Amino acid sequence: MKTRIGILTGGGDCPGLNTVIRAVVKSATKRGWESLGILGGFEGLLQPTRSRVLDYHEMDGLLFLGGTILGTSNRGAFSGKSGHGETRQIDPAVLAAARAGVESLGLRALIVVGGDGSLTIAQQCFEAGIPVVGVPKTIDNDIAGTVITFGFDSAVSFATEALDRLRTTAQSHERVMVCEMMGRYAGWIAAHAGIAGGADVILIPELPFKMESVCRVVTDREAQGKRFTLVVVAEGAREAGRDFITLGDSGAIREARLGGIGAAVAEEIGKRTGKETRVCVLGHLQRGGAPTTFDRLLCTRFGAAAVRLVAEEKYGCMVAHRPPSTEPILLTEAIGHLRTVPPDGDIIRTARDLGIGFGD
Ligand code: F6P
Repeated sequence: MKTRIGILTGGGDCPGLNTVIRAVVKSATKRGWESLGILGGFEGLLQPTRSRVLDYHEMDGLLFLGGTILGTSNRGAFSGKSGHGETRQIDPAVLAAARAGVESLGLRALIVVGGDGSLTIAQQCFEAGIPVVGVPKTIDNDIAGTVITFGFDSAVSFATEALDRLRTTAQSHERVMVCEMMGRYAGWIAAHAGIAGGADVILIPELPFKMESVCRVVTDREAQGKRFTLVVVAEGAREAGRDFITLGDSGAIREARLGGIGAAVAEEIGKRTGKETRVCVLGHLQRGGAPTTFDRLLCTRFGAAAVRLVAEEKYGCMVAHRPPSTEPILLTEAIGHLRTVPPDGDIIRTARDLGIGFGD
C-alpha cells in the first residue's frame, strides 16, 4: 500500500493556503506518496466522509488561487482559543476520536496549516498520539519562532494599496481618513502597511495611545498647510487605560472578534479637531485573493519542507522561516506566546524617524 499523508487547513483563511496544499501534494507525489485532504479543518477528522484524495493534476492553477480548496473552520469542538487568545484544552474524547480518524484513514502523518489557534490544537493532537507537522499561516504574522508567516506579505500589500487610494481621496477633500486593519493583538500589518503607505499616524496594540496626541498630529499638519491626514488603526489598538473594542460576544469557546476602534478614533478626531473625518475598515479584503510573489515562494518552501519533515519522521514540529533557510522548530516553541511588534525595534524606530506618530 502507498504511504498516505493528510493535510488540513485550520482557522481563518489567508492567501497562500492553496499554494501550500499544491507544494505538499507535488512533493508527496514525487516521493510516490498519496495525499488526502481533510475537509473543513480538524472537524473533518471526526467524519470519514469529510476527506478526499488530492490528485496531482488538480494542483494546476492552485499556485495563485485564494482561499482553501479544503475549507476551514475556527469554531466547534476544535476551537483552540477563547476570550482574548487564552488557550483551550480540547476535550480528550475529541482528541481520541481524531486519532482514531487519522488511523482509520491510514495516514502516516498529518500536516496542519494554521495560525496560533490551529497549531495549539496540532500540539494537543501530537500529545494524543497523532504524528503532526505544522505550517505557520496567518496574515497577522504573530507566530513565534518564524521570521514571517505566510499570508502576511499579501495582506500588507493589499493594505498598502488601500492607503494609496485613501490618500488621493483624503487629499482631494482635505479630510482625515482613518483606515482600520486586521492583525488581532499584533500591529504588524498596520505598522508595515502604515509605513509603506505613508501614514501620518499608526495606532497599534503594542503602544496604547492618547487621543490628544493623535489629534495633535492632525492640527500640526494643518498648521504646516497639510490639509489631510492618513491614520492607520490596528483592530487591536486601544486607548491608554481602556479595553479592546470588540464586535459581538466572545466567550468560553470562541475568541473575541476585534473591530470598531477605527470608527471610535475617527469620531473623536472629528469632534476634537473639527476636521471632516471618514473611516474605512479593510476587514476580510485583507484575507481574500491571490498571494503575492513573496508568499507564493514562502508557501512553496513551507509545503516542501513539511513533506521533508514527514519523510524524516520529525513530528511535533513546525516549519519556520529562518533566512536563508526553512528549519523545523518544536510546535511548543511557536505556540502560546504571540510575536508582537517590538516597541523599540527597527520598524517603530524607522517610523518615528520619519515623523510618524503612534499617539503615545
Ligand atoms: O487571525 C486572522 C484574522 O483575520 C484576524 O486578523 C482577525 O481579527 C480575525 O482573523 C477575524 O476572524 P473572523 O474571520 O472569524 O472574523
